[in-house]
Amino acid sequence: MDLAVETVGLTKRYSQLTAVKGLNLEVRRNSVHGFLGPNGAGKTTTIKILVGLLRADEGVVRVLGREVRWDAPETRLKVGYMPELPRFPRHLKGRELLDIYGRMYGMSEQQRREEIPRLLEVVGLKGREGDLIGKYSKGMQQRLGIAQALLGDPELVILDEPSLGLDPVSMVEVRNLMKGMAKEGRTVFLSSHLLFEVEQVCSHVTVIHRGVALASDTLQNIRGMLMGGGVVEVELAEPCEAAAESLRSLPFVSRVEQSGRILTVELKTRDDVRAHISRAITGSGGVIVAMGWKGRTLEDVFLQLVSKPVEGGA
Ligand SMILES: Nc1ncnc2c1ncn2[C@@H]1O[C@H](COP(=O)(O)OP(=O)(O)O)[C@@H](O)[C@H]1O
Ligand SMILES: [Mg+2]
Repeated sequence: MDLAVETVGLTKRYSQLTAVKGLNLEVRRNSVHGFLGPNGAGKTTTIKILVGLLRADEGVVRVLGREVRWDAPETRLKVGYMPELPRFPRHLKGRELLDIYGRMYGMSEQQRREEIPRLLEVVGLKGREGDLIGKYSKGMQQRLGIAQALLGDPELVILDEPSLGLDPVSMVEVRNLMKGMAKEGRTVFLSSHLLFEVEQVCSHVTVIHRGVALASDTLQNIRGMLMGGGVVEVELAEPCEAAAESLRSLPFVSRVEQSGRILTVELKTRDDVRAHISRAITGSGGVIVAMGWKGRTLEDVFLQLVSKPVEGGA
Protein backbone atom coordinates (compact mmCIF):
# COMPACT_ATOMS: atom_id res chain seq x y z
CA MET A 1 0.00 0.00 0.00
CA ASP A 2 1.31 3.42 -0.89
CA LEU A 3 1.37 5.47 2.28
CA ALA A 4 1.78 9.22 2.61
CA VAL A 5 2.18 8.95 6.38
CA GLU A 6 3.13 5.98 8.48
CA THR A 7 3.95 5.81 12.15
CA VAL A 8 4.83 2.70 14.09
CA GLY A 9 4.78 2.77 17.87
CA LEU A 10 4.96 6.55 17.98
CA THR A 11 5.34 7.76 21.54
CA LYS A 12 5.79 11.25 22.89
CA ARG A 13 6.11 12.29 26.51
CA TYR A 14 5.96 15.71 28.12
CA SER A 15 7.76 14.98 31.40
CA GLN A 16 5.25 12.79 33.34
CA LEU A 17 2.48 12.94 30.75
CA THR A 18 2.55 10.54 27.82
CA ALA A 19 0.65 12.48 25.17
CA VAL A 20 0.98 9.87 22.40
CA LYS A 21 1.24 6.18 23.25
CA GLY A 22 2.45 3.69 20.68
CA LEU A 23 0.49 5.21 17.85
CA ASN A 24 0.32 3.25 14.60
CA LEU A 25 -0.98 5.46 11.86
CA GLU A 26 -1.36 4.74 8.15
CA VAL A 27 -2.48 7.44 5.77
CA ARG A 28 -2.88 6.28 2.20
CA ARG A 29 -1.83 8.49 -0.62
CA ASN A 30 -4.63 10.42 -2.30
CA SER A 31 -6.97 9.97 0.63
CA VAL A 32 -8.56 12.56 2.87
CA HIS A 33 -7.78 11.16 6.26
CA GLY A 34 -9.38 12.48 9.42
CA PHE A 35 -7.60 12.35 12.76
CA LEU A 36 -10.49 12.53 15.14
CA GLY A 37 -10.38 12.95 18.87
CA PRO A 38 -11.45 15.18 21.74
CA ASN A 39 -9.30 17.98 23.11
CA GLY A 40 -6.08 16.74 24.62
CA ALA A 41 -6.17 13.46 22.68
CA GLY A 42 -2.70 14.01 21.23
CA LYS A 43 -3.55 15.20 17.73
CA THR A 44 -1.45 18.35 17.67
CA THR A 45 1.47 16.56 19.27
CA THR A 46 1.36 13.87 16.57
CA ILE A 47 1.09 16.44 13.81
CA LYS A 48 4.02 18.43 15.12
CA ILE A 49 6.10 15.28 15.03
CA LEU A 50 5.01 14.58 11.45
CA VAL A 51 6.12 18.01 10.31
CA GLY A 52 9.36 17.90 12.27
CA LEU A 53 8.54 20.49 14.93
CA LEU A 54 8.75 17.99 17.78
CA ARG A 55 10.90 14.96 18.20
CA ALA A 56 9.35 11.58 18.99
CA ASP A 57 10.58 9.71 22.05
CA GLU A 58 9.96 6.34 20.47
CA GLY A 59 8.74 4.91 17.23
CA VAL A 60 9.21 5.26 13.54
CA VAL A 61 7.70 8.07 11.51
CA ARG A 62 7.66 8.05 7.73
CA VAL A 63 6.29 10.88 5.65
CA LEU A 64 6.07 10.47 1.88
CA GLY A 65 8.16 7.36 2.10
CA ARG A 66 11.00 8.90 4.08
CA GLU A 67 11.82 8.65 7.71
CA VAL A 68 11.25 11.99 9.39
CA ARG A 69 14.32 13.38 10.98
CA TRP A 70 15.11 16.70 12.48
CA ASP A 71 16.72 17.86 9.26
CA ALA A 72 14.67 16.68 6.34
CA PRO A 73 14.08 19.76 4.21
CA GLU A 74 13.61 17.73 1.03
CA THR A 75 10.55 16.02 2.50
CA ARG A 76 9.25 19.15 4.19
CA LEU A 77 9.11 20.94 0.86
CA LYS A 78 6.47 18.47 -0.29
CA VAL A 79 4.38 18.87 2.84
CA GLY A 80 2.03 21.77 3.44
CA TYR A 81 1.12 22.45 7.04
CA MET A 82 -1.42 24.66 8.70
CA PRO A 83 -0.97 24.88 12.47
CA GLU A 84 -3.86 24.96 14.90
CA LEU A 85 -5.33 28.49 14.98
CA PRO A 86 -2.67 30.08 12.81
CA ARG A 87 -1.65 33.56 13.90
CA PHE A 88 0.08 35.73 11.35
CA PRO A 89 1.72 39.12 11.82
CA ARG A 90 -1.08 41.65 11.74
CA HIS A 91 1.00 44.34 10.07
CA LEU A 92 1.56 42.28 6.92
CA LYS A 93 -0.74 42.17 3.95
CA GLY A 94 -2.11 38.78 2.93
CA ARG A 95 -0.14 38.82 -0.28
CA GLU A 96 3.09 39.75 1.54
CA LEU A 97 2.69 36.89 3.95
CA LEU A 98 2.35 34.35 1.15
CA ASP A 99 5.34 35.88 -0.58
CA ILE A 100 7.49 35.47 2.53
CA TYR A 101 6.41 31.86 2.98
CA GLY A 102 6.95 31.23 -0.74
CA ARG A 103 10.54 32.39 -0.40
CA MET A 104 11.02 30.12 2.57
CA TYR A 105 9.81 27.27 0.39
CA GLY A 106 12.46 28.25 -2.15
CA MET A 107 9.99 29.32 -4.82
CA SER A 108 11.38 31.56 -7.53
CA GLU A 109 9.98 35.03 -8.07
CA GLN A 110 8.26 33.84 -11.21
CA GLN A 111 6.67 30.90 -9.37
CA ARG A 112 5.46 33.18 -6.62
CA ARG A 113 4.03 35.63 -9.11
CA GLU A 114 2.05 32.88 -10.75
CA GLU A 115 1.04 30.80 -7.80
CA ILE A 116 0.14 33.34 -5.14
CA PRO A 117 -2.72 35.01 -7.05
CA ARG A 118 -4.04 31.57 -7.96
CA LEU A 119 -4.03 30.46 -4.32
CA LEU A 120 -5.64 33.69 -3.18
CA GLU A 121 -8.39 32.98 -5.63
CA VAL A 122 -8.74 29.36 -4.50
CA VAL A 123 -9.22 30.35 -0.87
CA GLY A 124 -11.52 33.23 -1.72
CA LEU A 125 -9.23 36.07 -0.70
CA LYS A 126 -8.92 37.62 -4.13
CA GLY A 127 -9.45 41.34 -3.84
CA ARG A 128 -8.42 41.32 -0.17
CA GLU A 129 -4.76 40.39 -0.70
CA GLY A 130 -3.69 44.01 -0.27
CA ASP A 131 -5.41 44.39 3.12
CA LEU A 132 -3.61 44.07 6.41
CA ILE A 133 -3.99 40.68 8.08
CA GLY A 134 -4.97 42.57 11.23
CA LYS A 135 -8.15 43.50 9.40
CA TYR A 136 -8.99 39.94 8.39
CA SER A 137 -11.75 38.02 10.09
CA LYS A 138 -10.95 34.69 11.73
CA GLY A 139 -12.27 32.86 8.71
CA MET A 140 -10.11 34.90 6.37
CA GLN A 141 -7.03 34.22 8.50
CA GLN A 142 -7.82 30.54 8.48
CA ARG A 143 -8.18 30.59 4.71
CA LEU A 144 -4.91 32.47 4.42
CA GLY A 145 -3.41 29.67 6.51
CA ILE A 146 -4.74 27.17 4.03
CA ALA A 147 -3.30 29.13 1.11
CA GLN A 148 0.02 29.13 2.96
CA ALA A 149 -0.21 25.36 3.40
CA LEU A 150 -0.81 24.95 -0.35
CA LEU A 151 2.23 26.97 -1.42
CA GLY A 152 4.79 25.05 -3.43
CA ASP A 153 2.31 22.47 -4.70
CA PRO A 154 2.60 20.01 -1.77
CA GLU A 155 1.84 16.31 -2.18
CA LEU A 156 0.62 16.09 1.38
CA VAL A 157 -1.35 18.77 3.20
CA ILE A 158 -1.61 18.55 6.98
CA LEU A 159 -4.24 20.74 8.61
CA ASP A 160 -4.55 20.94 12.37
CA GLU A 161 -8.21 21.67 13.23
CA PRO A 162 -8.88 23.58 10.03
CA SER A 163 -12.29 24.79 11.07
CA LEU A 164 -11.59 25.68 14.67
CA GLY A 165 -13.22 28.98 15.56
CA LEU A 166 -14.99 29.37 12.24
CA ASP A 167 -18.58 30.32 11.67
CA PRO A 168 -20.73 27.78 9.79
CA VAL A 169 -20.39 29.53 6.44
CA SER A 170 -16.60 29.61 6.64
CA MET A 171 -16.61 25.99 7.75
CA VAL A 172 -18.40 24.99 4.59
CA GLU A 173 -15.88 26.96 2.55
CA VAL A 174 -12.96 25.28 4.27
CA ARG A 175 -14.52 21.86 3.74
CA ASN A 176 -14.91 22.61 0.05
CA LEU A 177 -11.27 23.67 -0.09
CA MET A 178 -10.23 20.34 1.37
CA LYS A 179 -12.34 18.46 -1.14
CA GLY A 180 -10.71 20.52 -3.89
CA MET A 181 -7.25 19.53 -2.66
CA ALA A 182 -8.18 15.87 -2.83
CA LYS A 183 -9.48 16.29 -6.38
CA GLU A 184 -6.11 17.75 -7.33
CA GLY A 185 -4.53 14.49 -6.24
CA ARG A 186 -3.10 15.61 -2.92
CA THR A 187 -3.25 13.67 0.29
CA VAL A 188 -5.02 15.58 3.02
CA PHE A 189 -4.55 14.76 6.68
CA LEU A 190 -6.67 16.82 9.00
CA SER A 191 -7.25 16.72 12.70
CA SER A 192 -10.60 17.54 14.16
CA HIS A 193 -12.67 17.15 17.28
CA LEU A 194 -15.79 17.52 15.14
CA LEU A 195 -17.40 14.36 13.91
CA PHE A 196 -19.55 15.98 11.32
CA GLU A 197 -16.58 17.72 9.77
CA VAL A 198 -14.71 14.46 9.41
CA GLU A 199 -17.84 12.76 8.19
CA GLN A 200 -18.29 15.25 5.41
CA VAL A 201 -14.83 15.29 3.91
CA CYS A 202 -12.88 12.21 4.91
CA SER A 203 -12.53 8.87 3.19
CA HIS A 204 -10.58 7.40 6.10
CA VAL A 205 -10.63 8.08 9.81
CA THR A 206 -8.39 7.36 12.77
CA VAL A 207 -9.99 7.91 16.15
CA ILE A 208 -7.55 8.91 18.88
CA HIS A 209 -8.19 9.26 22.58
CA ARG A 210 -5.64 9.87 25.32
CA GLY A 211 -2.81 9.25 22.92
CA VAL A 212 -4.10 5.86 21.80
CA ALA A 213 -5.69 5.03 18.45
CA LEU A 214 -9.08 3.47 19.14
CA ALA A 215 -9.99 2.69 15.56
CA SER A 216 -8.72 3.32 12.07
CA ASP A 217 -10.61 2.46 8.93
CA THR A 218 -12.59 3.81 6.02
CA LEU A 219 -15.24 6.32 7.02
CA GLN A 220 -17.86 3.85 5.90
CA ASN A 221 -16.53 1.06 8.09
CA ILE A 222 -16.02 3.30 11.07
CA ARG A 223 -19.55 4.49 10.67
CA GLY A 224 -20.84 0.95 10.18
CA MET A 225 -18.91 -0.31 13.17
CA LEU A 226 -20.10 2.49 15.36
CA MET A 227 -23.62 2.89 14.15
CA GLY A 228 -24.44 -0.82 14.46
CA GLY A 229 -27.89 -0.70 16.00
CA GLY A 230 -30.70 1.61 16.80
CA VAL A 231 -31.64 3.19 20.08
CA VAL A 232 -35.06 3.11 21.68
CA GLU A 233 -36.05 5.56 24.36
CA VAL A 234 -38.77 4.48 26.75
CA GLU A 235 -40.60 6.68 29.20
CA LEU A 236 -42.03 4.82 32.18
CA ALA A 237 -44.76 5.98 34.52
CA GLU A 238 -42.28 5.59 37.35
CA PRO A 239 -38.70 4.33 37.66
CA CYS A 240 -38.50 0.54 37.48
CA GLU A 241 -35.23 -1.23 38.01
CA ALA A 242 -36.73 -4.63 37.19
CA ALA A 243 -37.73 -3.38 33.74
CA ALA A 244 -34.17 -2.25 33.02
CA GLU A 245 -32.87 -5.63 34.22
CA SER A 246 -35.24 -7.61 32.04
CA LEU A 247 -34.24 -5.56 28.99
CA ARG A 248 -30.57 -6.25 29.69
CA SER A 249 -31.26 -9.96 29.36
CA LEU A 250 -32.68 -9.62 25.83
CA PRO A 251 -30.27 -10.96 23.20
CA PHE A 252 -30.56 -7.97 20.85
CA VAL A 253 -29.95 -5.35 23.55
CA SER A 254 -26.40 -4.11 23.96
CA ARG A 255 -26.88 -1.58 26.72
CA VAL A 256 -29.58 -0.08 28.92
CA GLU A 257 -29.25 3.20 30.68
CA GLN A 258 -31.70 4.31 33.29
CA SER A 259 -32.18 7.93 34.19
CA GLY A 260 -35.22 8.44 36.38
CA ARG A 261 -38.25 7.37 34.40
CA ILE A 262 -36.35 7.27 31.11
CA LEU A 263 -34.76 4.09 29.80
CA THR A 264 -32.37 4.39 26.89
CA VAL A 265 -32.02 1.04 25.19
CA GLU A 266 -29.16 0.54 22.76
CA LEU A 267 -29.69 -2.26 20.29
CA LYS A 268 -27.42 -4.59 18.39
CA THR A 269 -29.90 -4.55 15.55
CA ARG A 270 -31.60 -2.04 13.37
CA ASP A 271 -34.76 -4.11 13.28
CA ASP A 272 -37.80 -2.65 14.92
CA VAL A 273 -37.98 -4.62 18.16
CA ARG A 274 -40.24 -2.24 20.06
CA ALA A 275 -42.92 -4.90 20.59
CA HIS A 276 -40.35 -7.17 22.30
CA ILE A 277 -39.16 -4.30 24.46
CA SER A 278 -42.70 -3.43 25.41
CA ARG A 279 -43.44 -7.03 26.41
CA ALA A 280 -40.28 -7.30 28.51
CA ILE A 281 -41.05 -4.11 30.37
CA THR A 282 -44.67 -4.92 30.99
CA GLY A 283 -43.74 -8.45 32.06
CA SER A 284 -41.48 -7.10 34.76
CA GLY A 285 -44.08 -4.72 36.13
CA GLY A 286 -43.09 -1.54 34.31
CA VAL A 287 -45.68 0.83 32.86
CA ILE A 288 -44.83 2.47 29.55
CA VAL A 289 -46.13 5.95 28.83
CA ALA A 290 -44.13 6.59 25.68
CA MET A 291 -41.62 4.90 23.45
CA GLY A 292 -39.62 6.34 20.60
CA TRP A 293 -37.00 5.32 18.09
CA LYS A 294 -33.97 7.50 18.41
CA GLY A 295 -31.37 7.75 15.67
CA ARG A 296 -27.81 7.45 16.78
CA THR A 297 -25.47 10.21 15.79
CA LEU A 298 -21.80 9.69 15.22
CA GLU A 299 -21.35 11.81 18.32
CA ASP A 300 -23.12 9.23 20.50
CA VAL A 301 -21.05 6.56 18.95
CA PHE A 302 -17.86 8.45 19.50
CA LEU A 303 -18.69 8.96 23.16
CA GLN A 304 -19.36 5.27 23.41
CA LEU A 305 -16.04 4.43 21.77
CA VAL A 306 -14.03 6.69 24.01
CA SER A 307 -15.80 5.50 27.13
CA LYS A 308 -14.76 1.92 26.46
CA PRO A 309 -11.79 0.83 28.51
CA VAL A 310 -8.68 0.92 26.35
CA GLU A 311 -6.46 -2.06 26.61
CA GLY A 312 -2.81 -2.26 25.70
CA GLY A 313 -1.65 1.02 24.23
CA ALA A 314 2.05 0.70 23.66
N1 LIG B 1 4.19 21.55 25.37
C1 LIG B 1 3.50 20.77 26.20
N2 LIG B 1 3.93 20.50 27.45
C2 LIG B 1 3.26 19.70 28.27
N3 LIG B 1 2.11 19.09 27.95
C3 LIG B 1 1.61 19.30 26.73
C4 LIG B 1 2.28 20.16 25.79
N4 LIG B 1 1.55 20.17 24.65
C5 LIG B 1 0.49 19.38 24.85
N5 LIG B 1 0.52 18.86 26.10
C6 LIG B 1 -0.46 17.91 26.67
O1 LIG B 1 -0.44 16.74 25.87
C7 LIG B 1 -1.75 16.24 25.67
C8 LIG B 1 -2.06 16.18 24.20
O2 LIG B 1 -2.16 17.50 23.72
P1 LIG B 1 -2.40 17.86 22.19
O3 LIG B 1 -1.47 17.06 21.36
O4 LIG B 1 -2.35 19.33 22.04
O5 LIG B 1 -3.89 17.31 21.99
P2 LIG B 1 -5.01 17.72 20.92
O6 LIG B 1 -4.35 18.44 19.79
O7 LIG B 1 -5.62 16.41 20.52
O8 LIG B 1 -5.99 18.58 21.65
C9 LIG B 1 -2.68 17.13 26.47
O9 LIG B 1 -2.89 16.54 27.72
C10 LIG B 1 -1.89 18.41 26.60
O10 LIG B 1 -2.25 19.11 27.77
MG1 LIG C 1 -4.77 20.25 18.97
